[in-house]
Amino acid sequence: MTTTLVTNIGELVTVDQADRVLHDAALVIEGGRIAWIGSADRAPAADERFDAAGRAVLPGWVDSHTHLVFDGDRSEEFEARMAGADYVAGGISTTMEATRSASDARLKTLVSRRIAEAVAGGTTYLETKTGYGLSLDEEARHARLLDELRQAGEVDAVTYLGAHLVPPGEEAESYTALAAGPMLEAVRRHVQWADVFCEEGAFTADQSRQVLSAAKEAGLGLRVHGNQLGPGPGVQLAVELGAASVDHVNYLSEADIDALHDTWTDWDAGQAEGTPGTTATCLPACDLSTRQPLAPARQLLDAGVPIALASNCNPGTSYTTSMNFNVSTAVLQMRLSLKEAIRAATFSAAVSLGAHHEVGSLEVGKRADLHMLDAPRAIHLAYRPGMPMTYAVWRKGQRLR
Ligand code: NIG
Repeated sequence: MTTTLVTNIGELVTVDQADRVLHDAALVIEGGRIAWIGSADRAPAADERFDAAGRAVLPGWVDSHTHLVFDGDRSEEFEARMAGADYVAGGISTTMEATRSASDARLKTLVSRRIAEAVAGGTTYLETKTGYGLSLDEEARHARLLDELRQAGEVDAVTYLGAHLVPPGEEAESYTALAAGPMLEAVRRHVQWADVFCEEGAFTADQSRQVLSAAKEAGLGLRVHGNQLGPGPGVQLAVELGAASVDHVNYLSEADIDALHDTWTDWDAGQAEGTPGTTATCLPACDLSTRQPLAPARQLLDAGVPIALASNCNPGTSYTTSMNFNVSTAVLQMRLSLKEAIRAATFSAAVSLGAHHEVGSLEVGKRADLHMLDAPRAIHLAYRPGMPMTYAVWRKGQRLR
């Protein structure tokens, strides 16, 4: 097997259990995995050599929340919001219509283009959701297309979000029964996760519970969109059902934070072993684009709740795949240290996807997913916001950029 030495790394942010940051470092890639990490002057010989010329390297981003399968444009809705209009869940149906009329080939091209954008910004592990089909046939079609992309290695995890919105003209109870029954049955072989938008204007706690319980019964992992537009039952429901993640979390009570904290008692953070609890996934680009208060990431971390950061790329509330932007916003606006923000966008996001033994940190044996910055130190992500910081990206040891 060919070995590649990446050497002369100015700063290597490992995100390992000891949170080590190495200087003048090197690593060896073999068979798509990290085979060696250490000081550049003690690096073993390898077949190929890549000189980082003093640049910083960190794990590829793990984007744990995206909605990439969509067509259409909602920039007018966004512009109206910037002029003072509120975000409402109903906008989802605009995208539903455009997406339903797109062919398989067009949707796959659109998704692949968005993935290429994400990779160009350092993302190497990606979750994405259905949720703009909202009929049995369309949800099944979108799940199948995403599964094909997963099998081709472009996507890593696919989530069923049939309970994203009750489509216009349908009745909530019968649509919920469809989403928890025949629709779930039609998508389940294509997906690993199920999600529900538990929010006023979308699904109530009881309706969300119905869909999520059926999905759990079907063997899927659970995620919840909750507490995005106001205080609500999303967090408590996620905790009750043992969801791996509750996402958005803009409006939290003390009881919500305590409940999240209590889910982590069987997790050994020092060893990164045990049973993970419910991660609070914060989506800063979405918060800015919907003019919601930024999620209380600092408060969550201080209370001992692991947080993830994700792009939430979708046409309604966050039309960006840029994890660099989300990480820099978390540092500049949410008062996370750079190390906390990087961990949230790599290792903690991987934990929320059950993928932390594979990705999310740079350790021997893990997938060689590397993000090299065109900067000597990773803090440049926040120090030089908006600048094109990504210099090179390796996914499973293959250089993609
Ligand atoms: O995560 N909140 C629900 N779903 C998406 C927005 C979907 C849309 O408006 O198209 C989100 O923000």
